[in-house]
This record gives sequence, C-alpha cells and structure tokens, in this order.
Amino acid sequence: MKIAVTVNEVREQVNEWKRQGFSVGLVPTMGYLHEGHKSLITCAVSENDRVVASVFVNPMQFGPSEDLESYPRDMDRDAALCEEAGVDLIFHPEPSEMYHNGFSSYVDMNTLTGGLCGKSRPVHFRGVCTVVAKLFNIVMPDRAYFGQKDAQQLAVIRHMADDLSYGIEIKGCPIIREEDGLAKSSRNTYLNKEERQAALVLNRALSEGRKLIEAGERDAASIKDTVTSVINAEPLARIDYVEIVSWDLLEPVKNIDGPVLVAVAVFIGKTRLIDNFIALED
Ligand code: PAF
Repeated sequence: MKIAVTVNEVREQVNEWKRQGFSVGLVPTMGYLHEGHKSLITCAVSENDRVVASVFVNPMQFGPSEDLESYPRDMDRDAALCEEAGVDLIFHPEPSEMYHNGFSSYVDMNTLTGGLCGKSRPVHFRGVCTVVAKLFNIVMPDRAYFGQKDAQQLAVIRHMADDLSYGIEIKGCPIIREEDGLAKSSRNTYLNKEERQAALVLNRALSEGRKLIEAGERDAASIKDTVTSVINAEPLARIDYVEIVSWDLLEPVKNIDGPVLVAVAVFIGKTRLIDNFIALED
C-alpha cells in the first residue's frame, strides 16, 4: 500500500491503473477510522480492482465554532487499518495541497442542503461538495463509497454527482453500530462514560419511531413526537433536530407514503451526534 501526499502522485498511480484496465473505487474519509469506514473499504475492495482511501480532515466543512482543531487524528492507526482492509493507495494531503493560496472556487447546492444538518451547519455542505468534487476530479474513480450514517451527505453527493455528470456510481453503505446500538462515529471518542451511556438514546428513540412505522403509523408529526419525547427524557441530551423527510430529495413530509429518512441530531453534552433510519425503501 502506498501513501500519496500530492495530487500528482495520485494521478500518476491512477492513470497507470487505468492503462492496465483496472477499475478504481474511492473511499473518502476524514481519518480516525473505525469499523464503519472499514465496511466501506471492504465493500470497495469487493467491487473494484484497486481502492483509494482519502484521509483528509477538510477544514472547509467546519464552521468557525466547530471542532476542526480537536477532531481526532491518528494516521499510523489509519494506515494500518487501510492496509489490513485491502486499500491500495491512501491519499493524505496537507490542506495547502487541496486549497492553494488564493483558492476561490466552490461547489454548492441550492436544494437538499437547507434542512437537517445544513440548518445548524450553514457552511458544511459547501465544504463537503467542494472537497468531494476535488477528490472525484483527482481520483476519477468508477465508484465512490459513503456511509448512510451521514444520510444527508449521501443524498447530497448523489445529487451533485448526477447534476455535474461525473459518471461515478455513488454507493451508500449501511450504518455500523456498537454492540449496544450506538452508531459508530469518530466523534464518539469525545464522550465521557456518562455521556457514552446517554448517547444510546438516539438509537432508542429511532427504534421507537421505526416500530410505529412498522405498525402502520403514517402521520409524520406523531412519529416525530414519540422520537422527541424519548430523547427529551434523557437529561444529558439536547435536540438539534428530529426530522422526517423524503428519501432522497429530503423534502419534509406530513404523511408517509413512500421512502422516508427519519433523522435526528442530538447534543450529548457538547458532542453533536447524528443517527437515522430509512423506512419504506423498496
Ligand atoms: O464523511 C466524511 O468523513 C466527510 O464529510 C467526507 C465525505 C470525507 C468529506 O470530507
């Protein structure tokens, strides 16, 4: 496995692979990899001849009061996990390699990004779209892999790839959970013991919502009420949002009559966690 730090190194390697007729999968990450990332890599390895994983904490997708500085990083551990999972090339650029002096071009979206996480993180999706568009242009993969835990991100990237005619297959992979149900996230590392226990409320609340839908409830407001009241019963939890939107245009729904995303964002202490499920998908 190679580690490339420049755009040119990646291009040379990928061009070589393409000359040999190999298909290429891309797994974009911000590092501090866990089982969730590993499942994306495993899927990419099974569907492509060669796999590139990017490890880049993208400054552009963090707001001014967010956790860019404290975001966990451990490149040695990430490299070991990538190697074991079958990655062929890690792209690990410095911010200056991605955003040179005078950088001033962005990829943004008018739909899909205003609600859910976009409401409380107004610059986030412009940063995500810009960096993912750059990664697509650098690696030019056949397929790219994203976790469903960031369901809005997955929907946004699919839309962007279609709008901008990338011709890249965008693959969504299921949420990977701890044994007790907490969705795996690099940010779980911020939680102390008490908060870690309190964080289980996200999955607990969503499970109650899922049960209602499975029992035939179709009124979005009543499902949201149930999810909200389960979360509010946890003293360490503060709701950012509880939403039910169409999957995958992310428009609010009143009556559930097709695939929907039921999504929550909750502060546990200072840590903002997200989780979701998709219901009535074919
Ligand atoms: O999901 C992430 O880790 C990031 O948002 C991504 C897609 C790697 C872009 O920085």
